[in-house]
Amino acid sequence: MSAPLRLEGLTVRYPGAPPAIDQLDLTLHEGERAALIGANGAGKSTLLLSLCGLLPITSGRAWIYDTPITPKGIKRARQQVGFVFQDPDDQLFMPTVFEDTLLSARRLGEAGAEARAAEALRRFDLLRLRDRPIHQLSGGEKRLVAIASTLAADPKLLLMDEPSANLDPRGRRRLIEALKRADRAQLIATHDLELALEVCARAFILQGGALVAAGRVAEILSDEAILRRCDLEKPLSLRPCPRCGMTR
Ligand SMILES: Nc1ncnc2c1ncn2[C@@H]1O[C@H](COP(=O)(O)OP(=O)(O)OP(=O)(O)O)[C@@H](O)[C@H]1O
Ligand SMILES: [Mg+2]
Repeated sequence: MSAPLRLEGLTVRYPGAPPAIDQLDLTLHEGERAALIGANGAGKSTLLLSLCGLLPITSGRAWIYDTPITPKGIKRARQQVGFVFQDPDDQLFMPTVFEDTLLSARRLGEAGAEARAAEALRRFDLLRLRDRPIHQLSGGEKRLVAIASTLAADPKLLLMDEPSANLDPRGRRRLIEALKRADRAQLIATHDLELALEVCARAFILQGGALVAAGRVAEILSDEAILRRCDLEKPLSLRPCPRCGMTR
């Protein structure tokens, strides 16, 4: 069976600038949850946007399952993908919370779409907001609606750009539990390294658009040399206790 995501030498360049994604080789396996980690400007959003066909690939190749991400293949490739944008205002465009979620749930067909949309909202305690206009929501509420709406389509491959940004602790916990329950391939760009540790098995570290490390998430996030080189900090849960010196 083909991998949910495979990149070979993927390069993405904004006009007149050095590559924002530089010769990236990466494979995401079926059912695997991986974190995409890197400092501001490392290229995380650029990569995810290019995988959805929202930014052109300059060179190299990429596949979602067997479908190449090319101008011809992108429509079919995108049918397998659920994408949570870094900015929910780029994603939510229907007038109300329920209409946006329903539109997404309809990707699986008309039958049962209303029930699927309601269930997706219920999982994130969002039914109380169902008839609210999107533009009246708070930042965290928009983020959760964007996540619920994406999951309502039950995509085979989940690409998420900073899904926990702006969430309160309870919303973040609901997100973590939903991601752990969602038995599918997930690539999660995040600065929330504790989320990465809890949710993901693997991590890919980007710097200046290049892949500088890939491996088991706890090993990568314990590697002081890599973290220093990439302007990252060790997550608190991997640091020794300041009193007794023990690590968890
Ligand atoms: N539209 C654009 N035109 C030119 N350069 C861009 C554009 N968008 C992003 N860049 C540049 O591409 C590089 C990668 O940006 P990108 O948004 O992918 O980073 P990121 O890893 O998602 O950062 P953050 O953690 O801040 O979200 C940065 O140097 C950024 O300045
Ligand atoms: Mg980004």
